[in-house]
Amino acid sequence: VILELKRESHVPLYAQIAGQVREMIGQGVLKIGDRLPPNRELAKVLGVNRNTVTTAYEELAADGLISSHVGRGTFIDGMPPPSRKPLSKEKAQPSQMPWSALLADHRRDTWLGGLRFPDREKGMISLVCSLPQPELFPMDEFRRSINNAIKREGSVLIDSGSSGGYGPLQEYLVSQMALSGIRTSSDELVITTGCQQSLNLISQVLVGAGDEVVIETPTYPGAISVFCGSGGRHISVPVGREGIDLDVLEDILSQRRPKLIYTIPSFHNPTGVTMSLAARRRLIEIAARHRVPILEDDIYQGLRYEGPALLPLKALDEYGLVIYINSFSKVGVPGLRVGWISAPRIIAEQLSMAKRIADLHTGILAQAAIYEFSRHGLLAKHIKRIRRAFSQRRDAMLEALALHFPAEASWTKPDGGMAIWVKLPESLNADQILHDAMERGVTFSPGHHFYSSLPRHNMMRLSFTMVSPAEIHEAVKRLGAAVKQRLSAQKRQWANQGAEEYRALV
Ligand SMILES: Cc1ncc(COP(=O)(O)O)c(C=O)c1O
Repeated sequence: VILELKRESHVPLYAQIAGQVREMIGQGVLKIGDRLPPNRELAKVLGVNRNTVTTAYEELAADGLISSHVGRGTFIDGMPPPSRKPLSKEKAQPSQMPWSALLADHRRDTWLGGLRFPDREKGMISLVCSLPQPELFPMDEFRRSINNAIKREGSVLIDSGSSGGYGPLQEYLVSQMALSGIRTSSDELVITTGCQQSLNLISQVLVGAGDEVVIETPTYPGAISVFCGSGGRHISVPVGREGIDLDVLEDILSQRRPKLIYTIPSFHNPTGVTMSLAARRRLIEIAARHRVPILEDDIYQGLRYEGPALLPLKALDEYGLVIYINSFSKVGVPGLRVGWISAPRIIAEQLSMAKRIADLHTGILAQAAIYEFSRHGLLAKHIKRIRRAFSQRRDAMLEALALHFPAEASWTKPDGGMAIWVKLPESLNADQILHDAMERGVTFSPGHHFYSSLPRHNMMRLSFTMVSPAEIHEAVKRLGAAVKQRLSAQKRQWANQGAEEYRALV
């Protein structure tokens, strides 16, 4: 190893050693598996203190470039990110900033970002998004609500506000949650820019480096991005007919100490299943016994089409262990970006602080507009209307699936929510079906987007809220044809293979 140290430089000697070794690895002079000289030897050659070399090696090890093995020595075992060597004046070009080398972490957001492809959806019947159809929203009534809010509040709406949220909306939410059996107060409430931000803030406040979070599998991709992106550690628990598998959860909690259990108990995304009351009580009892908090995502709660309403986990919680999140996105205004968290006071205070750091507060005009729209019963009226419409769309999809899908496929029959989860035969791949479906003018979400790891390739999420019942029938008919075509092609191929093998035997 040839290193040149500049003793007159203001760069400490250890940093010069580390920097030059790093550069040699980057240039390929030193390769993965190469052995570095022992500290004492290198110190002697370079005429520096042994501690100087030790510090340099420690810095390289912390960057993941080298590792030491007792009795064997120190070896190169990583590559540095692309070099950011200064360019000479004449060489510098406006577009030459090495952004990828500057990224603080390597977020693998293949989940949330992978879900939508709006450009490719143009002119297609899209079953991709679990969102309310904008055309169903009463825009004139909403415009009047915004005008009334401005008239009533005036310049308050353009002034800076509190990180906890707009007071009247907080109080309204407290009264609304009481109707679902949740006892909370304004100081336990933080208004956020939607559930996605709520997940982020909760993760910032509660999940430290190395902490594990229990998530359901499959689950909402935005939660996977928050809890599993950039190296987050998680434990997946399967979702069955009754929601999160409580036996598996018990087993895990008896061996590990996760920081949080994230669950969507009502009209789970993507499966559509709902936890029964008994399962809800058991989940709380298990979490209480193991002293692990629950993060309840109740975003689909307002969209029940049949069966009795079930109490949220937060309403059943006698131990103060549930953090509850919800938003106005699924019931009408996803673009307004208003959601909320109800949490024990000590956590709500921390969340308010995190909210302040993130974006000071959610826009007051948005909060005041939805408050004005809600307090006169217009939101409740709208929800009633969309429930009727979505229920018809769900029925249309169930009917169409029964008519057009092959007997080898199966699917959930959700009591509410926005999507149906379809299981294709194991031999089929939902990505291939998506390819075929797009050629027939239909798109949907292949199931792998909803798994943090070990994705299942034969699942499809079909959302039914954005298109009319007639379009649903047409889309499912085309999808069914695509699935059947793939299946019969496979069967033909297998039959031919079988015949050939038979001929070979003869
Ligand atoms: C379960 C779940 N949680 C959270 C979100 C994000 O909601 P918001 O628009 O309030 O950020 C979604 C959106 O699809 C969701 O399905």
